[in-house]
Amino acid sequence: MHEEHISKMVKLVASTVRRGAIIGLGSGSTVAAFVKALSETEVSKSITVVPSSMQIETVALEAGLKVGGPQIIKELEWVFDGADQVDKRLNIIKGGGGALFRERILLSAAKHCVIMVDENKVVERLNKPLPIEASPFARWYVKDRLEAMGGKVMLRADKKGYPTITENGNIIFDVDFGEIGEPQNLHYKIKDIAGVIDTGLFILKSPSIYVARLDGSIYRLDQVSLY
Ligand code: A5P
Repeated sequence: MHEEHISKMVKLVASTVRRGAIIGLGSGSTVAAFVKALSETEVSKSITVVPSSMQIETVALEAGLKVGGPQIIKELEWVFDGADQVDKRLNIIKGGGGALFRERILLSAAKHCVIMVDENKVVERLNKPLPIEASPFARWYVKDRLEAMGGKVMLRADKKGYPTITENGNIIFDVDFGEIGEPQNLHYKIKDIAGVIDTGLFILKSPSIYVARLDGSIYRLDQVSLY
């Protein structure tokens, strides 16, 4: 069951979706709550969604939404997604669920990006360990290069120690760089390492970022306006 303030935010955002829209879906619990809210709107039967992961595809199918494949990504008008951390300059860390690579494809292709977060995820400067998807073959090389950049590198694994394998057949490193002063620079430096598939740093063009406060109020971080 979702917390009340998140439910309120996803309902508000779902009410902005227009009849017949083709929309991309990120992954995670916030997007799952959004899908549920969307399925309860009167436009739900007319829209098509393109999911970024099996997790959200399952949620969308169970909610009765029409699911489209990657061939319609070029037609995406909107993408709705969550995030792990957002700073006040609108830089974003994503990838807590390991879906960062496909999320980036949808967020890059769409005309408009909408991000929904809890107020606890908003910070002055990004400082969470950064998810980085890499080829298993390049594991040792990539780890070494990330350490040389000053990162504390952890291979993502389950409780028993089995490495997490993404839907693209890759591994994930969670890398602590402390406070991230220049996210765009860091993203490009890491992307430049052979074997890195993608990073969880997102610097989107004019995103709409909705923030749900625990007291039930909602505001737009990109506009600093209250609902
Ligand atoms: C998935 O890989 C992530 O990018 C999610 O968007 C992020 O982890 C937020 O997830 P929650 O909505 O579950 O907090």
